[in-house]
Amino acid sequence: MRVHVADHPLVAHKLTVLRQTSTPSPVFRQLTEELVTLLAYEATREIAVERVEIDTPVARTLGTHLTHPRPMVVPILRAGLGMLEGMTRLLPTAEVGFLGLQRNEETLEAITYANRLPDDLAGRQCYVLDPMLATGGTLVAAIQYLIERGARHVTCITLLCAPEGLATVEAAVGHHADVTIVTAAVDERLNDKGYIVPGLGDAGDRLYG
Ligand code: PRP
Repeated sequence: MRVHVADHPLVAHKLTVLRQTSTPSPVFRQLTEELVTLLAYEATREIAVERVEIDTPVARTLGTHLTHPRPMVVPILRAGLGMLEGMTRLLPTAEVGFLGLQRNEETLEAITYANRLPDDLAGRQCYVLDPMLATGGTLVAAIQYLIERGARHVTCITLLCAPEGLATVEAAVGHHADVTIVTAAVDERLNDKGYIVPGLGDAGDRLYG
């Protein structure tokens, strides 16, 4: 598994505003979309492409096209939905599959309540969207669904990660080299309620609550 932490002043600035308690929902939603677009630029660095011949008004030349099958984007409901628009703006031809996972706030276990993924993902590059990687339970479950269906490469885009959650995902899928996590920041730790510290609170509530 590879972890890429975006090191860019615009990412740091937008994340700082996102974290603040005083940031209202409409601004939070807008910043989430903007951050995803910036992170998606990094996350798609190894997207599969092929060389194609094209004609410009002046000459025949070689260009680059995304290859088939189309990439699959998987937002984790509910909070991942706030990242979908920012991602599809960059990848308009992607197919979108949905996973609904909710963390039981007492046991911190991820429960699946919705699954709209194709049964066969053989050879597909998948991009999972979820703003928070806290204990890691949600992301481990999502990655396992995709790998079981044959996904070729899974890239997870998150806004914040806890070191504990990264270690859990690494332990679960570490042997699977084709998993990458792209994040805006790795925070200090989890608190005793499983919240990321300093974090930004409950992303789902701040987006939709
Ligand atoms: C939050 C967050 C992640 C998950 C992270 O979702 O959006 O999906 O928790 O926690 P974990 O790493 O400990 O599994 P939540 O379960 O609150 O659902 P929501 O998106 O519907 O608010």
